[in-house]
Amino acid sequence: MDLERRTLLKGLGLTTVGWAGSNAVQAQESSDLAYSTQEAGTVGSTVNYTDDVIYQIVTDRFQDGDSGNNPDGDLYSSDCSNLRKYCGGDWQGIIDKIRDGYLTEMGITALWISPPFENVTSVDADIGTSYHGYWARDFKDTNEFFGDMNVFEELVSVAHDNGIKVVMDFVPNHTSPSTADNSMEDGVLYDDGDYVTSYSDDPDDYFHHNGGTDYSNYEDQIYRNLYNLADFDQQEAYIDQYLKDAIRSWLDKGIDGIRVDAVAHMAPKWQKTLMDTIYDHKPVFTFGEWFLGTGESNQRYYDFSNDSGMSLLDFRFGQEIREVLREFNDDWEDFWDVIEETASQHDQVIDQVSFIDNHDMERFTVAGEEANTDLALAVLLTSRGTPTVYYGTEQYLTGGNDPENRKPMPSFDQSTTAYQIIQKLAPLRQSNAALAYGDTQQRWINSDVFFYEREFGDNVVLVGINRSQESYDISGLLTALPEGSYDDQLDGLLGGFGTSVNGDGSIDSFSLDPRTVCVWEYTGNTTEPALGHVGPTMGQTGHTVTVSGEGFGSSAGSVQFGSTDAPVVSWSDSKIEAEVPALAGGFYDVTVTDTDGVQSDAFADFEVLTDDQVSVRFVVNNAETDPGESVYVVGNVHELGEWNTDRSVGPFFNQVVYEYPNWYFDVNVPAETSIEFKFVKIDGDGNVTWESGSNRTYTTPSDSTGEYVGDWQA
Ligand code: NOJ
Ligand code: NOJ
Ligand code: CA
Repeated sequence: MDLERRTLLKGLGLTTVGWAGSNAVQAQESSDLAYSTQEAGTVGSTVNYTDDVIYQIVTDRFQDGDSGNNPDGDLYSSDCSNLRKYCGGDWQGIIDKIRDGYLTEMGITALWISPPFENVTSVDADIGTSYHGYWARDFKDTNEFFGDMNVFEELVSVAHDNGIKVVMDFVPNHTSPSTADNSMEDGVLYDDGDYVTSYSDDPDDYFHHNGGTDYSNYEDQIYRNLYNLADFDQQEAYIDQYLKDAIRSWLDKGIDGIRVDAVAHMAPKWQKTLMDTIYDHKPVFTFGEWFLGTGESNQRYYDFSNDSGMSLLDFRFGQEIREVLREFNDDWEDFWDVIEETASQHDQVIDQVSFIDNHDMERFTVAGEEANTDLALAVLLTSRGTPTVYYGTEQYLTGGNDPENRKPMPSFDQSTTAYQIIQKLAPLRQSNAALAYGDTQQRWINSDVFFYEREFGDNVVLVGINRSQESYDISGLLTALPEGSYDDQLDGLLGGFGTSVNGDGSIDSFSLDPRTVCVWEYTGNTTEPALGHVGPTMGQTGHTVTVSGEGFGSSAGSVQFGSTDAPVVSWSDSKIEAEVPALAGGFYDVTVTDTDGVQSDAFADFEVLTDDQVSVRFVVNNAETDPGESVYVVGNVHELGEWNTDRSVGPFFNQVVYEYPNWYFDVNVPAETSIEFKFVKIDGDGNVTWESGSNRTYTTPSDSTGEYVGDWQA
């Protein structure tokens, strides 16, 4: 925790005391403690996006609001006929489209914009330009073709005034391409205008120099270059600090969320230190891009989502909905399998960011098949997770792989069916908590028809879809909707109709026409504490967390981490801010108890970090293993598993930076702490071999990074 904040908390008496005092005191304290720059009440929570709809914009391709900042010459394609060049779109254009109502009337409540920082300005005949923003030169300055810092701040403030959060894309994996013929800028890095290094002349090894990855394994992906992009060594102290300083400076500009590029290509535990930096400075919802192809899934993806402190783009959902409603290779049973898999694999499936397409895959819409896009949007916007709509999907923009999927916005027509679907369903995510927090239940399924229900507290949403050209008789449908009549929330846009529910929760048989979606909803009055969400899901003592749900009551009860009461900062029926109490590092269940003493279900395993986190590279030499065995580290602090080998950290790597029988792993540990640990070998069956000798000791650095090197103690 930074000193300033610790002092602030102490000044307010909030590090040690719990909830006390009048509403006046409460209001005073919460405004003093507010992290965000927006006026209270204009935008939703920066740490809970489950009731939002994100709209993803490729800044260069949305709207040119200021032709004065367009590049000259070879960088620029004025009619955007060359999709690899800059086309003129900018932050002023986004501001204009917020002000003219196009975005607000669609109902979206967050924007995800292209990386905003200064990029290289060279042009390569094949790979083009940095119009997409992923080729940074200086992470502390703006991309001049998008605007200067004043315009960026204006974008944030206009967005906030209109109830819209701003999510920025962050790219801590790399700078830019270092090409063989040096057609680009050799991955050059600047620090707020000052030259730092470039890929071919990198005396301090700020970049990895291990060649390009062949994606053969996790280590190879992390410690070798992605394509020819100059790959940061985040374990170098300067780079570690540079990237963390950079993200803090953008947080200070008022951003509300972060999308992290290429998270499968950076050390996972270094990223955990990045998340600790973000949460210690200004907690905002953060989600990473771990690309998965069609049908692809892997345990590391889920482990990262559950351990790193950030969420992931929901590629499992995105790829599967495309198989069911675009390709028609899979059916609803397959979709249900993915819903079940993701619900059980993610600790918090509602925090994953769902989508039907994005700038790295063919657009969902196929010319002539626009109705499939409509069906997919209806499912996306009523499913678990935070939905993201890729710009232009509401205009049925088509296009194959990059850069064809990044064409300019063709029009801003507010009457398309797709636009209206978003307009009707986005507000429902805010008014009916079942869409934000509810589980997904299967109510009726065959290959073409799927009825699924979301339920939370006393709220219910039932959605039915028929993707086929046939009518189906639906009999035996049961629901949690109370007895009564319900209108279609899409007002018949996709052929839907109203229904009646009997006293026993049954719906009389009916016929569901081809290509139809019905959305029925009941907004209840939840009177007992129903805990829907905690954000962030990890933090240090004294950090503020937001607990969301319903039925907490209008006057303050209590919040518990395990059995310890947490200081309450603010309290309303649906949202509580509380501080992580003084606890040892570990996992704690969070519960809410109202003034009648009724306790909510637990939010499982909030992770209390021991202190500020720093990344230390643990190296153990001469550790010979039997086939199937790997090396791990286990030690006396929470971050090292507290001597519990089930929680030991690894498996270590042994191919790129150091080679077998030498092993290494970059690990988040508490700063400025004297730690004790040992290396262990663990085989595929979980058998543990401890090294001998006494415990190793090491004092971790106060900030930046560290390295510990030792020989295996046979
Ligand atoms: C994934 C991004 O989404 C993609 O567009 C980009 O080119 C690569 N990462 C490299 O930054
Ligand atoms: C756990 C102990 O606490 C630690 O000190 C010891 O080195 C290992 N077990 C191995 O015996
Ligand atoms: Ca422009």
